[in-house]
Amino acid sequence: MVAAVRVHKTGGPEVLTYEEVEIPAPGPGQIRIKQGASGVNFIDTYFRSGLYPAPTMPFVSGNESAGEVTAVGSGVTDLKVGDRVAVVAALGGYAAERVVPADRAVKLPDSIGDEQAAGMMLKGMTAEYLLQRTFKVEKGHNVLIHAAAGGVGLILGQWANHLGANVIGTVGTKEKGELAKANGYHHIIYYRDEDFVARVKDITKGALCEVVYDGVGADTFPASLDCIKPLGLFASFGSASGPIKAFDINLLQQKGSLFATRPTLNTYNAKRDALVKSANDLFKVVSSGAVKIAVDQKYALKDAQKAHRDLEGRKTTGSIILVP
Ligand SMILES: NC(=O)c1ccc[n+]([C@@H]2O[C@H](COP(=O)([O-])OP(=O)(O)OC[C@H]3O[C@@H](n4cnc5c(N)ncnc54)[C@H](OP(=O)(O)O)[C@@H]3O)[C@@H](O)[C@H]2O)c1
Repeated sequence: MVAAVRVHKTGGPEVLTYEEVEIPAPGPGQIRIKQGASGVNFIDTYFRSGLYPAPTMPFVSGNESAGEVTAVGSGVTDLKVGDRVAVVAALGGYAAERVVPADRAVKLPDSIGDEQAAGMMLKGMTAEYLLQRTFKVEKGHNVLIHAAAGGVGLILGQWANHLGANVIGTVGTKEKGELAKANGYHHIIYYRDEDFVARVKDITKGALCEVVYDGVGADTFPASLDCIKPLGLFASFGSASGPIKAFDINLLQQKGSLFATRPTLNTYNAKRDALVKSANDLFKVVSSGAVKIAVDQKYALKDAQKAHRDLEGRKTTGSIILVP
């Protein structure tokens, strides 16, 4: 039996239950991992609340973790006992140990510890595909990123800056604004007090943005569309304030023949080759120092409820991890 945080019925943070669970031996194609740290991501709150349906009930919460391989199932050839790995895979993350398909694990460089890995893989590979594949950000592009001081936001800002973009971020508080400024953002907008569309127009001298990356959802829609140049892209990658309601597609025509997408990491990294390349691109920008990973909150596994309250209460910055 190992310590884990399970959900028996969907609801608020109080449904996260710290208890002992049975972890099986790895089956064919699987590995067992003793975890050094688990990442906390906004998606964990969607599964916990029921916004995203979980495939089983009860389920162990969490979608990201890092640790050491302690057993390998038959047919696993590229990983062995003792290897250090990180895993981004749906559910099972908040536990001292877990069993996962080996093809979802990536080997970690020695320079990246378990805690840093748990704070960067899901968020960093998200930044990778958003900036390189959903839209190819290039030197001179104007880019707007909402929730700039959050886990994904701090990585996106640094990486977009590294690519040569003019990086504009929205944040909820002055402290978050300072942090975002120290992490790649050229311009900060306080979207709780300021009209962010007017500020984007001002900052870009009316040119607007090639792309808007929006993980906030309901509260920033449809205003985000008014920040985009004709033929630009609206990348709606999350719903921290709630999901965007169904809208009339003619709106995209009215706002300048815009493109809109609702991308997800699972689709972009579904194939093993894509996962490995995405992870390697992330390791490269982190090891070069272009992107620094801020693990600003660390909680004991048993305190997962507090981690979720703080995340949903907009109290956190950068990455959050749980340690067993
Ligand atoms: N599609 C994908 O592949 C993918 C992958 C990873 C993450 N995501 C999405 O990316 C977004 C960021 O994820 P994260 O884990 O890094 O979280 P996070 O950004 O660290 O936390 C969410 C932030 O959103 C802002 N926010 C605005 N309105 C909010 C509200 N009503 N309630 C709570 N927060 C609100 C807050 O910042 P301020 O106080 O500054 O407003 C808050 O700190 C989430 O929407 C997540 O679902 C998507």
